[in-house]
Amino acid sequence: MEKFKFEIAKLLSETLETTVAPLELETPKDRALGDFAFPCFKLAKTLRKAPPVLAQETADKLATRLDPSLYSVKPAGPYVNVTLTRKAVVAGVLDPILKEGRQTGSAPEGSKERWVFEFSSPNVAKPFQIYHLRTTIVGASLSRIARHRGYKVTTINHLGDWGTQYGKLAIALKRYEKELPTELTLKNLVDIYVRIHKDMETDPSIEKDGQAAFKRLEQGDPEMRAIWKKCVDISLKEFAKTYQRYQVEFDHYWGESFYENQLKPLISDLKQKGILVEDQGAQVVRVTSRDGQELPPCILEKSDGTSIYATRDVAAAVYRHDNVGFDRMSYVVGKEQKLHFEQVFGVLRAMGCDWERACEHIATGLYRFKDAKMSTRKGNFITLEEVNELCMAKSLALMNERNVAQEDPELRLPETDIKTIAEQVAVGALVFADLSTDPTRDLEFDVDRVISFEGETGPYIQYAHTRCLSIIKKAGNIAGTEPDAGLLEARLTAPEEILLIRTLGRFPEALDRTLDQRKPSQLTTYLIDLTRDFGQFYRECKVMNPEDPELTRVRLALVDATRIVLGLGLDLLGIPKPERM
Ligand code: ARG
Repeated sequence: MEKFKFEIAKLLSETLETTVAPLELETPKDRALGDFAFPCFKLAKTLRKAPPVLAQETADKLATRLDPSLYSVKPAGPYVNVTLTRKAVVAGVLDPILKEGRQTGSAPEGSKERWVFEFSSPNVAKPFQIYHLRTTIVGASLSRIARHRGYKVTTINHLGDWGTQYGKLAIALKRYEKELPTELTLKNLVDIYVRIHKDMETDPSIEKDGQAAFKRLEQGDPEMRAIWKKCVDISLKEFAKTYQRYQVEFDHYWGESFYENQLKPLISDLKQKGILVEDQGAQVVRVTSRDGQELPPCILEKSDGTSIYATRDVAAAVYRHDNVGFDRMSYVVGKEQKLHFEQVFGVLRAMGCDWERACEHIATGLYRFKDAKMSTRKGNFITLEEVNELCMAKSLALMNERNVAQEDPELRLPETDIKTIAEQVAVGALVFADLSTDPTRDLEFDVDRVISFEGETGPYIQYAHTRCLSIIKKAGNIAGTEPDAGLLEARLTAPEEILLIRTLGRFPEALDRTLDQRKPSQLTTYLIDLTRDFGQFYRECKVMNPEDPELTRVRLALVDATRIVLGLGLDLLGIPKPERM
């Protein structure tokens, strides 16, 4: 489809004697109108013509240039609509998908700009919050899609592993040492952190001791270092389980501590530049937002000389710029940190780092829970473990229920598989629910709606994928029997078949829209459309036709192409693909 879009844009540019970018071609809402629509409003205004008049003229001219065996052109009001012929659709979309397989919709690695993604970034010695899951899932999927589309992608986990809280934690570890097991878990760390905060209410000296301990840590005190290192290791081990469950990987685990030896040089650099000023004992930089609004000053050094969260972020940005390099850097972080990032970018601008414009904060919304048990608590502080358990229980119940209701004993799943599949369904449902919501909006999480085979859910798509797999499996070995383009064109004629192929062809565009808008919901919507069109094809067109092996072959090829695109879409989103459901 992309290839056609480029050709139409090129010919439009020639016809109109002005550059028309392929991106300007829209997909008509009503698909009966065509595959591409060029809106004439903007150009009509410059040319001082009525848009429908310009649309008519342009359509007439374009028709003389486009190959009629591949395209038909029609004006509709202010639009020029272009429809691909069946020949174009079959030879130009279906055939390449079958040949490219999992490479479909990809661009050569590194053919596009350098794009750094930072996401997840949970805090050491604290439980993985549901809040971190959102940025993990959104960041992981955007970075995977960017890589598939040819960007040079680097992913970073900016672990929260530095700061005054580690001083307090060290104090707590010493204080309660005798009561703790030798093999500490993350839960132990969380518990003592809560406990020390309680103790602090009656014993204010703890606060000071904690600060002093952090100062020692920043000065490189070996005892403090060892304690801190232990906390980091325990936490990472725990986080690894989550990353495995959600199939997330990072190129670098560069936590806040990673930039530690760059903090002092950064402070002296700021001093030298004369932008660091004293404010109520602290060292701050006065900052503005990108549109020139004055912001609260950004504190970079506290009165006791220690660094803060923002100091580490400024150092991190500089480090990444100098050592990784990027044309774009996206921080996928909760929207409540909007001001923080504006301040950090403001400091960079004040420092004269003009590349700061390439940095952006992809702000994510919160989870809200419909479930009575969860809704009484604040969304941000629900642990991931609690949510996983909730999803798993529901998923297991659903799978068991379906299995018992299954009349064909051959289709019944073995008990041992159910748990694995239920887990894949639980993860898939959660990830899909997350990604199908605009990342900036809060997510209303209703476990009953989300873990279901009906409606716009993850399991709905996972199920369509397993259906493709089982059709192909039943047909026996079809590898090496791929029909050529001529046969595909001759035998695929049903409207449901052609519609399905058109939708398959919109995959690369859905990926680009996802990246362009930073919204994986563009891809989830596309996969829902594809699943629907596949369902319609499956209902109307019999795949296995013993009396017509040729028709069987071409329809199997279409099922296989659907399997490829659905499977790839699920992989890019990070949704598991069960083999059976
Ligand atoms: N650790 C932080 C938190 O849990 C998120 C870090 C976001 N990234 C950054 N570069 N500041 O809130």
